[in-house]
Amino acid sequence: MKTRHFLSLLDLTPAELQQLLHRAAELKALHRKGEHYTPFPQKVLGMIFDKASTRTRISFDAGMVQLGGSAIFLSPRDTQLGRGEPIEDTARVLSSMVDIVMIRTFEHGNVKRFAEYSKVPVINGLTDYNHPCQLLADLQTFIEHCGDIRKRIVAWIGDGNNMCNSYLEAACQFDFQLRIAVPPGYEPDADLLKRAADHVVLLRDPMAAARNADVVTTDVWASMGREAEEARRVRDFTPYQVTAAMMAQARPDAIFLHCLPAHRGEEVSAEVIDGPQSRVWDQAENRLHSQKALMEFLLLDAKSSG
Ligand code: CP
Ligand code: NVA
Repeated sequence: MKTRHFLSLLDLTPAELQQLLHRAAELKALHRKGEHYTPFPQKVLGMIFDKASTRTRISFDAGMVQLGGSAIFLSPRDTQLGRGEPIEDTARVLSSMVDIVMIRTFEHGNVKRFAEYSKVPVINGLTDYNHPCQLLADLQTFIEHCGDIRKRIVAWIGDGNNMCNSYLEAACQFDFQLRIAVPPGYEPDADLLKRAADHVVLLRDPMAAARNADVVTTDVWASMGREAEEARRVRDFTPYQVTAAMMAQARPDAIFLHCLPAHRGEEVSAEVIDGPQSRVWDQAENRLHSQKALMEFLLLDAKSSG
């Protein structure tokens, strides 16, 4: 039986993704009712973090505990990974002791290598290339507030970064139209752009991208690892701030999303992120519910169907 991993939205079929989001809504309702659902007593999640995190760390740890298991936080500062132990060796050892692994790191290739040598499912908790777990929460939030996302319009404003790449994957899997407004030189991954060609329009003008959109979304201008480029990026991205004037271009019932952490006054004005169209707090909370559904899928469903 082949171990399934979640390194990208493309690792699941569209039907599996739809089912997963449906399950995320059910798990959210159960959690809200205070009902306990603990299918994974004794199961252990290993979490490797090479980069900082608030939401990803807490949602995976709390999520696994709520499902009856436990989580171990591993950082390169206090594991042998940080002292040069090969990824392949770490994957073999860790996956002989825990039941599922989540990794947040820089190079996407390292997560792929880890998965190749892991006996248990591996989840990508963000790389420089993509951030698929965040998209599960974004889509859950859209569906909650706006219904079916098929054929709807999502405007991505700002940097063609890891989040933007995952929006390209999502546009293919969920069949929505993606308008990407980025300054020259900040385009997302070229292969993903090609793959999503039927679903994507690349623009320079953020106002045009936002016109009649159902969702306007953005992210930080300098992602983790890009801090040294901050001054140049602030200069290049200033016309791409999501403002009330930009939101006014979108549909009147459009929502604003941001994966967080946010910088008010940079990629988004305080008026927008703290305003009535913003759904960022639901979006952050949905990390918990959608990742519980993901872990359930990888530990139960994927195993039985694999
Ligand atoms: N959105 C997100 O992944 O947040 P953290 O970096 O806090 O995990
Ligand atoms: N693009 C951001 C997302 C943070 C959740 C980063 O990589 O830092």
